[in-house]
Amino acid sequence: MDIEQIGKDALEEIKSAQTLEALDSVRVRYLGRKGLITNFLKELASLPAEERKTKGRQANLVKTELSTHFETRKARLETEQESASSQTQFDLTLPGRKSWLGNAHPITKVLQEIVEILVGMGFEEKLGPEIETEFYNYTALNFPEDHPARDQIACFYLDDKHLLRSHTSPVQIRVMEKEKPPIRIIAPGRVYRPDAFDASHSPVFYQVEGLYVDENVTLAELKGTLEVFCRRMFGEQVKVRFSPSYFPFTEPSAEVAISCVICEGAGCKTCKNTGWLEILGAGMVHPAVFENVGYDSEKYSGFAFGMGVERVAMIKYRIDDIRLFYENDIRFIKQF
Ligand code: DAH
Repeated sequence: MDIEQIGKDALEEIKSAQTLEALDSVRVRYLGRKGLITNFLKELASLPAEERKTKGRQANLVKTELSTHFETRKARLETEQESASSQTQFDLTLPGRKSWLGNAHPITKVLQEIVEILVGMGFEEKLGPEIETEFYNYTALNFPEDHPARDQIACFYLDDKHLLRSHTSPVQIRVMEKEKPPIRIIAPGRVYRPDAFDASHSPVFYQVEGLYVDENVTLAELKGTLEVFCRRMFGEQVKVRFSPSYFPFTEPSAEVAISCVICEGAGCKTCKNTGWLEILGAGMVHPAVFENVGYDSEKYSGFAFGMGVERVAMIKYRIDDIRLFYENDIRFIKQF
């Protein structure tokens, strides 16, 4: 038989072999020890030299080509078989594995929301150091030398001069020292107080400070700014209340409360039956603070405010224990 024809037949059979077994029997029939091509090569011996040479070369060519085709087809059938068997092993009735998406911590989210609202109102974000000096944390903010807040037990002293800031108000001083009015800044960050760790206190928590200084800044602007902020933060329906208070660095000073988001003012456990929730300290910058940073207190006026981020988050999400924020129980954290 013609070697070309043998090669063509073999190729057809290789292509139509549907299993590895079928393919192997094709291989045996053509290339096996008693295979058609093997026999053909053996029979060449009886041919005259010239013919033997050309036919031999031809046959070897066909043989190599067929071997390549066998290998390719074999690899193909193997992958097919593999994927077929893995499909049968796949149990379609098994419940799926849920992919797990991380999320920002609720405090991070609320902090970002506060910052976003205030930046949207024209305030610029500034940061200050967490390790402060007594000067920035107290003196420049007009705390008298004998003020109880300066006491060893009221804040974390690191040495004679340094302490962990107990509020974000020192950033007001740092910014005013460097810049001239108009100033419109907010300063978010961590603050430290040696308080007992209980449902409403933590030794570390977050505050956002605000400061606006220019010529002719009025108390009405402070009220307007904080009213808008509270409505954006807690909803259009909230009422905002200002009541007189005291801080060394503001005069007059105010405590700002919103109508209770739970009972809407009727009185409940969360607002301790008052109908109000305190969320901010605020006031008009004290002239002594301006003098401490070298501003002319006759020329400039300003307002400042400070709020606790955890407190805002607790009100917003109706959480009654601050410790939940720091335990990092994933079941709690992932709800936000
Ligand atoms: N620093 C105050 C505190 O930690 C909060 C505060 C009150 C900040 C009044 C202010 C302000 O800027 O004007 O209790």
